[in-house]
Amino acid sequence: MKKTLVFKVNSENPEAKIIREAAGIIRNGGLVAFPTETVYGLGADALNAKAVLALFKAKRRPPDNPPIVHIGKFEDVYKLAMDVPAKAEILMKTFWPGPLTLVFKRSNIVPDVTVACLDTIAVRMPKHNVALALIRESGCPIAAPSANLAGKPSPTTTEHVLEDLDGRIDAILDAGPTRIGVESTVLDVTVDPPQILRPGGSPREALEAVLGKVELHPIVVAEKRLPVEKARSPGMKHRHYAPKAKLVVVEGELPAIVQKVMQLVNNYKKQEMKVGVLATNETVSFYKADVVKSLGGRNHLDVVAKNLFGLLREFDAEGVDVIIAEGVPTEGLGLAVMNRLRKASGYRIVKASL
Ligand code: TXA
Ligand code: MG
Repeated sequence: MKKTLVFKVNSENPEAKIIREAAGIIRNGGLVAFPTETVYGLGADALNAKAVLALFKAKRRPPDNPPIVHIGKFEDVYKLAMDVPAKAEILMKTFWPGPLTLVFKRSNIVPDVTVACLDTIAVRMPKHNVALALIRESGCPIAAPSANLAGKPSPTTTEHVLEDLDGRIDAILDAGPTRIGVESTVLDVTVDPPQILRPGGSPREALEAVLGKVELHPIVVAEKRLPVEKARSPGMKHRHYAPKAKLVVVEGELPAIVQKVMQLVNNYKKQEMKVGVLATNETVSFYKADVVKSLGGRNHLDVVAKNLFGLLREFDAEGVDVIIAEGVPTEGLGLAVMNRLRKASGYRIVKASL
């Protein structure tokens, strides 16, 4: 167990002294958690195999699931990727820095452990001054998966990171809650049309507006568990984002959802379970469960995305046995929200109709 240093840092204008100290830890092969616009990441020097190995260990991450490599300058992508297609350059110009991760054929400067022995690499430039300052000061690309223990919901605050990793990492840069709340969109640009491997902070609609057709990998929209052979992104086969409680997602038209959620609450109560409901502002007053929380308004899917992971952690803290979650529309950030909820439920999806 080591002592994890917590450095408070200004989110817009990070203090140079603090960034220098954190960058020194990265350069020496240490592990530093830092904020991005999506979620907190756990950073290590991406070109230092030993540091990346320690990163997997600290997170208890399966070694076949590679992290995203974060860069602070556009040029760096040409060092990490063997081939940067024209469509990728358009995306980089439009969306970087921002919540879009691109999967390229990888170059041979990258250690095998960083890419889990794949012949591809996932790269992004985060839109957060603290993240950018840390990467630039470290002078190396930074491998950074979300800063949670494997299988737990991604952290959107320093408190979440410490809940999982206090004593397991060297330091954290604390700049308050993250803005978007779900992870970046992972887009495979080694195929044409490009394919979304994980929906996230850059909505499909925004990518299509600049690129034309963008495909969705079948697992992204899966409503049931698909065979692992189909999982082109290693993260797809691991149960992710999961709270300790059993989670059930109810999907359909809103009146049908409300009726079904009420019915499920009663069923689980009869089984003497402590029942939680993950509702929305429009419906939160209808439910009489042990713990009822609202994700936000159904017309504000950005707010819903921002609240999702924190609320899942809160249900666990309150010790509920089962969480019944309302489905939301799969447009804009709603696709990322539903992908996380479906995965977290282990595909326990109930279709509601009147
Ligand atoms: O917003 C984010 O993306 C956050 C912040 C910290 O940047 N990072 C993040 O990293 O969510 P992580 O490691 O938790 O998720 C990375 C995802 C995983 O699903 C992984 O399987 C996929 O990206 N991935 C990484 N390398 C890949 C590759 N070469 N090909 C396909 N998928 C890859
Ligand atoms: Mg993760």
